[in-house]
Amino acid sequence: MSQNVITAKVPLEQRRKMIEFDRVHKYYGDYHALRGITATIREGEFFSLLGPSGCGKTTLLRTIAGFEDISSGAVLIDGKHMEDVPPNKRPTNMVFQSYAIFPHLSVAQNVGFGLRRDPRPEAEKARAVEEALEMVGLKGYGARAAHALSGGQRQRVALARALILKPKVLLLDEPLSALDKKIREQMQIELIKLQREVGITFVLVTHDQEEALVMSDRIAVMFEGEIAQLADPETLYRRPASRRVADFIGVMNFLPAKVLGEGGGHLQLEVAGLGQVEVTDEQASARPQGGEAAVGFRPETLTILYEGQVPQDRDSPGVIDEVVYYGDMTYYDVKLDGVETPVRISMRNVFGRPVLDVGTRTRVAWSPGALVLFR
Ligand SMILES: Nc1ncnc2c1ncn2[C@@H]1O[C@H](COP(=O)(O)OP(=O)(O)OP(=O)(O)O)[C@@H](O)[C@H]1O
Ligand SMILES: [Mg+2]
Repeated sequence: MSQNVITAKVPLEQRRKMIEFDRVHKYYGDYHALRGITATIREGEFFSLLGPSGCGKTTLLRTIAGFEDISSGAVLIDGKHMEDVPPNKRPTNMVFQSYAIFPHLSVAQNVGFGLRRDPRPEAEKARAVEEALEMVGLKGYGARAAHALSGGQRQRVALARALILKPKVLLLDEPLSALDKKIREQMQIELIKLQREVGITFVLVTHDQEEALVMSDRIAVMFEGEIAQLADPETLYRRPASRRVADFIGVMNFLPAKVLGEGGGHLQLEVAGLGQVEVTDEQASARPQGGEAAVGFRPETLTILYEGQVPQDRDSPGVIDEVVYYGDMTYYDVKLDGVETPVRISMRNVFGRPVLDVGTRTRVAWSPGALVLFR
């Protein structure tokens, strides 16, 4: 393909701005669906819009394609204002959730659909179709009737049909949500590989946090028409900007905390069940939330100590309240002394080490560096 191949080695901030949202607002009548979206998506980036149903993901995606007018603000693609540019003149292509392929056409006819007014000779177009099919792992399927494909294969046909037009930007609205778990996970990996290969900027809409974490360079977490946090997956997971983001992405335990003092880049806390802890300013959520302070920590940052094991850092006593066995993992809910609500701990199972019973008195090892302060 003639696309620039962007390797993962070029840092995002050094790449060209591909999509810019500048204070984008969208009203449907009285309903304020997008509330001042400002963000930049870079060339060759795999960018995801993640959030609960109704938060405005599809609406925002459609403003890029031009299917949705905006009420105020601006959308730029590759540096150009899109205000007066109709959808068919934009360098974008969209793959919809309900992969709208034509069942009565062959796979090749489906993929070549967008080329029907292309003046190139038929043989050349057929080659482009073959190339696109190869890209999505469907080499040799051209003559097959589209209705004789599995769900995952149809999804690939829809992708090939979008890719053949060589858009600068590919917009994907929950393209995998109709597939079952195994195929979905396989398609996720294939999509990442494909995206790296062609270097096209991908914008993916999903409400599946795991999918967003697996696939994206960066993720915008949206609630009620606003971006709550925009960051790379690791930052989102390790340093969520608010309790709400933390709760939406994975599991997070919260314990009530009091700030006893701060200064010199550190905060002294009194945390229920953990006692006095010092954390760095970096561990405090960027925007103060007001209300009761709490510390959050992920289940895998805690370890249950078996007899004879010594903690590498801190540890606190508690009682096992619930055990859920998953084969490779066991989830324990532990009531730390003095705290009513149990904390969840995920432990990788090790051969020869027994799963502990409910009611077992235990010690839980933890590390201050794994805590996030929300206040
Ligand atoms: N054409 C419309 N007219 C009026 N309201 C609309 C219209 N389209 C969307 N909305 C409303 O705007 C809000 C955002 O809708 P949108 O489709 O962007 O949500 P979403 O984040 O994609 O949700 P989902 O995950 O369910 O697809 C919703 O409350 C929805 O009801
Ligand atoms: Mg949607």
